Amino acid sequence: MAIATPADLADIDLTDLETFVQRTPHDWFKRLRDEDPCHWQDEKSGRGFWSITRYEDILALQKQPLVFSAGVGGTSLDDLTPEQVEARMSLLDMDPPRHTRLRALVNRGFTPKAVKVYEDRIRMLIRTILEETMPDREFDFVDRISIELPMQILSDIMGTPLEDRRTLVNLGDRLLGNTEPEFVGDLVKDQSDLSQYAHLPFSSPAALEMFDYALGLADLKRAQPGEDVVTILINSEIDGDRLSEHEFKLFFLLLITAGNETTRHTMSHGLQALLENRDQLDRLCADPSLAGSAAEEIIRWATAVHHFRRTATEDVEVHGRTIREGDKVVLWFTSANRDERHFDAPMRFDVGRTPNKHMAFGLGGPHYCLGSHLARLEIKVWLEELAPYLPDLHLNGPVDRMRSNFFNGIKRIPVRYEGDRV
Ligand code: HEM
Repeated sequence: MAIATPADLADIDLTDLETFVQRTPHDWFKRLRDEDPCHWQDEKSGRGFWSITRYEDILALQKQPLVFSAGVGGTSLDDLTPEQVEARMSLLDMDPPRHTRLRALVNRGFTPKAVKVYEDRIRMLIRTILEETMPDREFDFVDRISIELPMQILSDIMGTPLEDRRTLVNLGDRLLGNTEPEFVGDLVKDQSDLSQYAHLPFSSPAALEMFDYALGLADLKRAQPGEDVVTILINSEIDGDRLSEHEFKLFFLLLITAGNETTRHTMSHGLQALLENRDQLDRLCADPSLAGSAAEEIIRWATAVHHFRRTATEDVEVHGRTIREGDKVVLWFTSANRDERHFDAPMRFDVGRTPNKHMAFGLGGPHYCLGSHLARLEIKVWLEELAPYLPDLHLNGPVDRMRSNFFNGIKRIPVRYEGDRV
């Protein structure tokens, strides 16, 4: 749905979640990139933040992780005390060198070579899911496919029992969808006082349930070790010390949420983009060798994580604006991925786009997505297996978006399948 661009830059409100329910406000981001690339945004219930919207600027800031720190104030927009930051600090909210040591524990399991061993398993899973779903003819693509595939794969990698997958999906929804009433009811972050939960990731009480789950699983893995990430985490040491119980819980929560929600929403956006751009769908179906570039384009197009926040640790000048030490600085990956200074015709969905060095996984900094190779592989294989069904898939109702300016989430995509492959 088109909404008029506000007449005044000051009327752009990137904290207005109702706008994000309707669309990603690419028109606003274009305006900011063109006219005020380091833009001050007031917040109703916060200190306000700087919005960085150009590709090259975000890249430059990411290359200075100690000046634009993830660790000083965390990566969410919440205004936290140092104690709260420390209490909820996962890999994602840590600065080097602490970050480097922790990341080294799991890095090896997520290299291109390491994830390649999952390819056959991913293919088998997606085939089964598609074969079970298509005969129903009319279904919600998110519920039946986009939720299922990433979580089933993650269950394998993490060592979580498959039958628990919906419990984990639900907890992830409540954590990352903390501004979406459908997921959290009255505990909507921008409308409730969640200060009692500020020491928890995403200021969400769902974190406590995820922590309990993690500890229960750790007990199981101690009794029956596997080759999974949880077994690795409970046995690994940094400089001779095991991970503390708290570090383990935070790491588990990060991996479960980062590994399932992002890929889910990317697939959902990918499907929507293909169904709404049937020339690109036909092109992909006619030439399956495009699956790799199409997957990359879907990841750019979706940009499942709109932004992450940093905190300036010194006064810095950006485009003539003085960012003061302690200010919140928001890196809008979603805007960088439509920056016409970097991409040719960025508003065009192009399954053959090359080069396509997008920022959906971050770029240039130490927090570059740990699961990027896994996500790429999942989406490519998903596309290859989905392609034979695609010409006969059609939207069957409105696409339902999440109320969030953090996650570019899709809650439902009703579809109808009219083909013979059942
Ligand atoms: C299309 C899917 C995905 C997208 C769009 C995505 C996006 C991101 C982004 C934007 C970041 C932060 C980058 C930065 O701050 O510079 C990140 C970090 C991270 N992602 Fe992903 N991600 C995806 C899939 C995955 C998967 C499958 C996993 C696997 C478990 C994963 C695990 C992580 C972890 C652990 C981090 C923190 C890394 C660190 O702080 O060192 N992600 N991801």
